[in-house]
Amino acid sequence: MYSGGSGGGSAVQAKKVTVPELRRRKRGGLPLAMVTAYDFTMARLVDAAGVDLILVGDSLGMVVQGLANTLPVTIDEMCYHGRAVARGVSRAHLVGDMPFMSYQVSPAQALESAGRLIKEGAYESVKIEGGEETAEHVRRVVRAGIPVMGHVGLTPQSVHALGGFRMQGRGEEAAAKIVADARAIEEAGAYAIVLEAIPPDVAARVTAEVAVPTIGIGAGPACDGQVLVCTDLLGMARDHAPKFTKRYAELGDAIVDAVTRYVAEVQSGAFPTAEHAYKPNRTGDEYPEGGTGIGGPREPAPRH
Ligand code: KIV
Repeated sequence: MYSGGSGGGSAVQAKKVTVPELRRRKRGGLPLAMVTAYDFTMARLVDAAGVDLILVGDSLGMVVQGLANTLPVTIDEMCYHGRAVARGVSRAHLVGDMPFMSYQVSPAQALESAGRLIKEGAYESVKIEGGEETAEHVRRVVRAGIPVMGHVGLTPQSVHALGGFRMQGRGEEAAAKIVADARAIEEAGAYAIVLEAIPPDVAARVTAEVAVPTIGIGAGPACDGQVLVCTDLLGMARDHAPKFTKRYAELGDAIVDAVTRYVAEVQSGAFPTAEHAYKPNRTGDEYPEGGTGIGGPREPAPRH
């Protein structure tokens, strides 16, 4: 049992974000704010903060599992994390990454995998990496009624082919390829496209040329929206600070400090005190005041 219930209380109560609304935001309104989440507790917090989209990225391989890249992540893992995140989301649109080799083989494989993410992972749309070479895969999934977000520029599943996590789109030929990739994905029916690690002028060009929202990460300010990995945004990885990230908090330091104080208080006997204990020999007093002490929903009806 743990007492993690602080994520509830939604400061932002508004209607559910839908794909048609996301598309409309290309033509006006506020830029889109997307952030990753991988579990129920984080999902509930970022949803309460008013993000438009929550992405369960295959970055979970690196952020949650400590892997060197995203390649080993499986559909089963994406489904497990998707279900957990979905239980914490009431407003944001929930997107799940199609993991490496769950769609590259054929459009039919892409459709089958996307179907699993929707049925077993509780996602509302899926994200597929790649440009012209995956356009047919995107088209097949979209035709089945599953919304697809594209992802061009630095596509982390191609890390070995790219020679590392490197900026893409330098030089006119490379820039033109990214524009062509984005146009192919738009034409295949994607409702939005992530632009990762490309020069700001290339991102501006893509954003001007496609009719669907672009969502940038390391792609400058001209995009129709931005996405960050939650642990980067929150400063949780103390030894890792990508140049394009802004840290809005230093939770890594805050967590280490808090747990250090906890350890010291356990060792000194300062915690727990009578305030943190059940009262002796009384019925109806099973839990400390203020709830069950468990961070789960107080109300019924988790979605999945
Ligand atoms: O996996 C992920 O988190 C992503 C974002 C960085 C866009 O693809």
